[in-house]
Amino acid sequence: MHQHDIRNIVILTGAGISAESGLATFRRPDGLWEGHRVEDVATPEAFRRDPELVQAFYDARRARLKEVAPNAAHQALARLDAEWPGELLIVTQNVDDLHERAGARRMLHMHGELKSAWCLGCGDRMHWEERLGDRPPCPSCGVAGKLRPDIVWFGEMPYDMDRINAALMRADLFVSIGTSGAVYPAAGFVQTARYAGASTLEINLEPSQGSFFFQSSRFGKAGELVPAWVDEILAGIVPS
Ligand code: OAD
Repeated sequence: MHQHDIRNIVILTGAGISAESGLATFRRPDGLWEGHRVEDVATPEAFRRDPELVQAFYDARRARLKEVAPNAAHQALARLDAEWPGELLIVTQNVDDLHERAGARRMLHMHGELKSAWCLGCGDRMHWEERLGDRPPCPSCGVAGKLRPDIVWFGEMPYDMDRINAALMRADLFVSIGTSGAVYPAAGFVQTARYAGASTLEINLEPSQGSFFFQSSRFGKAGELVPAWVDEILAGIVPS
């Protein structure tokens, strides 16, 4: 594909893009949280069984956001967002806020956000910075102990799937950055994009589980490879 044929870009990001900011990825050999696998805390069943454990897990991760900053990869994508004249959508699986703190605007959080709370009493969602483990009252309905992290857990439906699928069906280029390709539906976006006729590029530390589906791959650190790729695409160089 020639550069002038690329107008619409969809970018999928995962935990690997935030690794160089100091946030742990999920599927490392030591990717455990106090002995718990992510699958043991990131489910509605885990929350029903042991809400204090699950709230503590997310309270710790929310507090950690104050100690980290966007890295060169987040900044490069924010620059691409600001400068790319065509359609662009950054779909992140990450629940951190590093894309938006770098300045990205055309983005969405398909797995929810650490800085959002969802009241199981009244259904409202609200910006949230503090702990939830202390069972604070909901600012909307006043009932205590009903707020949960506004995070999409295993078995729940990711957010904005209609919008994401529509963007994938219009995409000329799909780029996946820092994700292991282990969790659907995000892991299937590359196939939707290919079906729609898009070029596909993977940028990851190592081949992901879905590496096979990408037409081209670049392996290394997101903090180095993403700025280089953004420079190329903004300069009109064909990605490969
Ligand atoms: P994973 O932890 O599964 O995968 C992270 C990927 O990033 C791995 O393939 C690493 O090799 C790669 N990686 C690590 N450091 C990197 C770096 N500096 N540069 C580039 N790549 C790097 O994380 P995700 O694929 O994001 O869901 O996981 C998907 C979902 O599983 C998460 O959104 C989360 C989790 O359960 C929810 O919380 C709902």
